Amino acid sequence: MKNTVLTLKDIVKSYADGPSRRMVLNHVDLDVAAEEFVAIVGPSGCGKSTLLNIAGMMLSADAGEIFLCGQKVSDLPQKRWTAIRREKIGFIFQNHQLLPYLKAGEQLSVLMQTDDATVRELFRELNIEHVIDQFPAKLSGGERQRVAIARAFASDGDLILADEPTASLDSERGRHAVEMIRMEAHKRGKGAVMVPHDARVLDLVDRIYKMEDGQLSEVG
Ligand SMILES: Nc1ncnc2c1ncn2[C@@H]1O[C@H](COP(=O)(O)OP(=O)(O)OP(=O)(O)O)[C@@H](O)[C@H]1O
Ligand SMILES: [Mg+2]
Repeated sequence: MKNTVLTLKDIVKSYADGPSRRMVLNHVDLDVAAEEFVAIVGPSGCGKSTLLNIAGMMLSADAGEIFLCGQKVSDLPQKRWTAIRREKIGFIFQNHQLLPYLKAGEQLSVLMQTDDATVRELFRELNIEHVIDQFPAKLSGGERQRVAIARAFASDGDLILADEPTASLDSERGRHAVEMIRMEAHKRGKGAVMVPHDARVLDLVDRIYKMEDGQLSEVG
């Protein structure tokens, strides 16, 4: 049995909806093992990003427990979340948040303390070597997205969370990026959870979960 890198237990999340509350996650459970690449699919608004944000300690749940690499993190005070997130998780956001005042390469070397050779190697693998000394404002959407992917790979953490990581890439580059996430999980022993932008990459994942009525069920 491989180590479990992420466990969500009985997660509940609702949002205020006028005078009532709308239940988005209704007792969700999920286990992701090292070397496992998991996809979560479901219609727009069903709660996929909410789930990823809770797993990535960007958002608190109303109830339930979160374990990262066996450590229960859901009980820790929120002021410690940033440090845990930095240590354990590489997060690829849909809107690829890069810091505007750092050059592309520095998003890794400064933020993640990645050495120059590794930065160069990651940029080469993602075909963005030419933007290494550019600021984000000078990059195309797809280049920015690949810098964000490289930054998530530079994380030493055991978990990769990717929310539509290929939304601004054409299908060929998008598939290549998802292949790299798969390799990162399989070769470097990380667990990865992705909300895919494009169903054509689902053949690359190990397990698919469908989100429906606030609950996850395995497909196939
Ligand atoms: N901060 C918030 N306050 C209130 N409602 C919210 C908030 N964030 C999300 N929601 C609602 O929760 C539901 C789930 O949103 P979420 O972003 O998780 O969906 P999703 O499955 O990621 O959708 P998409 O595929 O469009 O990205 C939606 O109905 C959304 O309107
Ligand atoms: Mg979403």
